[in-house]
Amino acid sequence: MTKPKKIGILTAGGDCPGLNAAIRGVGKTAILKYGMEVIGISSGFLGLIDKEYFPLEERMLSGILTEGGTILGTSREKPFKKNKRLKVDKPGIIVETYNKLGLDCLVCIGGNGTQKTAARLVGEGLNIIGIPKTIDNDVWGTDQTFGFDSALWIATDAIDRLHSTANSHKRIMVIEVMGHHAGWLALYAGMAGGGDVILIPELDYNMDVVNEYLLQRARNKKPYSIVVVAEGIQKPYPDQPAASFVAKKIEEGTGMETRETILGYIQRGGKPTPMDRILATRFGASAVDLIADGDYGKMVIKKGEKIKSIYLSEVGSKLRLVPPDYKLIKKARGLDICFGT
Ligand code: F6P
Repeated sequence: MTKPKKIGILTAGGDCPGLNAAIRGVGKTAILKYGMEVIGISSGFLGLIDKEYFPLEERMLSGILTEGGTILGTSREKPFKKNKRLKVDKPGIIVETYNKLGLDCLVCIGGNGTQKTAARLVGEGLNIIGIPKTIDNDVWGTDQTFGFDSALWIATDAIDRLHSTANSHKRIMVIEVMGHHAGWLALYAGMAGGGDVILIPELDYNMDVVNEYLLQRARNKKPYSIVVVAEGIQKPYPDQPAASFVAKKIEEGTGMETRETILGYIQRGGKPTPMDRILATRFGASAVDLIADGDYGKMVIKKGEKIKSIYLSEVGSKLRLVPPDYKLIKKARGLDICFGT
């Protein structure tokens, strides 16, 4: 095997705290440990299509560890998605750019969609290494993605703040957190923030059960409650925010004054937590160790305390969802936290 000399790196999909820490982990390890050259690709896969990239020098990696966002930019470009009007062979252009740049490997930092694209690029003959990130924590194969811990802190802080205003007004506060189709963020923030009701996509819920639970709390002299809902819960009108649907049903069903808060993109912004900085750095450094070994076509993962790797082809379109019999849910039920069932 000839030693890998030049690698590309991109960040794709929705941003999250820790991306810059991962870029730094990849860049510094590649340049300082292995003497590789690193090319930063702008705006995810779009940069390879539009040929927007630049040499990522070591000095550019200083001071970015603690910063939110991504110095490379990102996009939700899906090069393999068929577009009948635009007859452009995007995967073909990506392969051409990769070869023109003389890359030995491309590091793709992203969530499920990105890892799926990465696996398809392996099929096109490219050397790829994936790094999982997302606040949703739903990438199959890894115990945790970076971005999740930071979003969890933000969502927990928001719930903490809602407690005091809910108490002052004796109101029901419904807070919607992100997570896409997964309930990890709602479950963990709900538990950490002392939520009374937690609704997640993985568990069916019944609003009559929720309302009776809230009325019982009021009868027990607990006139305010916190209801944490994941954005991905089942609801009759998909375009209606989960918090709006749930808040309306509660007010109608209990007569109690109810307010909704949709946390939104705040959850993806700002500085990464120390844990996310460390996980992103470990992922970045381990990704380059795989490259140095010529062990391509893989995604780095966290299993217990160890960083390991799995084949990108295994990750596929699978989602890592909260198992309905998840231990934390069982414990929460023991504390009389309501999941709507
Ligand atoms: O995957 C991260 C995430 O923030 C999800 O929680 C959310 O559903 C989605 O991205 C929002 O996507 P966009 O940035 O395209 O609005």
